[in-house]
Amino acid sequence: MLIGFFDSGVGGLTVMAECKKLLPDADFLYLDDSSNLPYGDKNDSEIEAISRRNLSLLFSAGCDAAVIACNTATSVCANKMREEFAGKTILGLEPAVKPALTENEGRVILLATPVTARHRVYPARVEVIVKKTLASEVEKAYGSPERLQSLAEKVYAECKTHGEFSAIVTGCSHYAHLAPYFPCKVYDGAAGIARRLVSLIGNNRK
Ligand code: DGL
Repeated sequence: MLIGFFDSGVGGLTVMAECKKLLPDADFLYLDDSSNLPYGDKNDSEIEAISRRNLSLLFSAGCDAAVIACNTATSVCANKMREEFAGKTILGLEPAVKPALTENEGRVILLATPVTARHRVYPARVEVIVKKTLASEVEKAYGSPERLQSLAEKVYAECKTHGEFSAIVTGCSHYAHLAPYFPCKVYDGAAGIARRLVSLIGNNRK
C-alpha cells in the first residue's frame, strides 16, 4: 500500500506523521510543492490546477490513496478532485473545529489562511484569525525549534488580543508545527485523516 501526500511545503509532514503512526507497514510518498508556496493567497482556479497536477503525479507514481495534506486545497477543491479522479481514494484535511467545540466551553480560535477562511462558515463560538504570511514564516523557521517557538509566541500573543479563548484550532497544516509551543489546547485535523485512512483501506495495509 503506497499512500501519497502533497502540500505547499513542510505543512503536510505533520499529517503524514500521524498516518504513519496508525499505518506503520504502509509506504509513504510526500510531494513537497514548496515552489507554489503559499497556496493561501492564490485564487481558486490556481489552487485547483495545482491540486490536479499534484494528484496526477501521485497516482502516476503508483499511489493507492492520496491525501491532500492541506486545508487550503481541501477547502477549494477536494470534492471536485474526487469527481475528476473517480474511483481513486482522495482524503482532504479539515480543521478540527468540531472536537474543539465539543470538548471546550467558550470561544475557540481558528487560525486559517485567507482561502480557507473564505470557503467555510463557522459557528459563532469560533473566532477566525486570518494569517496571510504565517505558512511561509513556518516554512522558513522549520528545522529550528527556537524560531518555531518564537513564532508561536508571537501568534499566541496576537490570539490573546482577541479576548479569552479555550483552545486553538490550526486551520493550516503548516501551523501544526507551532502546536507544541502554544500554552493551550491545540486541535488539528491530522489524527482524523489518519483514522479515516485506516477505515477506508481496512486491513489492506501492506
Ligand atoms: N499547509 C497548507 C494548508 O494547510 C497551505 C498553506 C499555504 O501554502 O498557504 O492550508
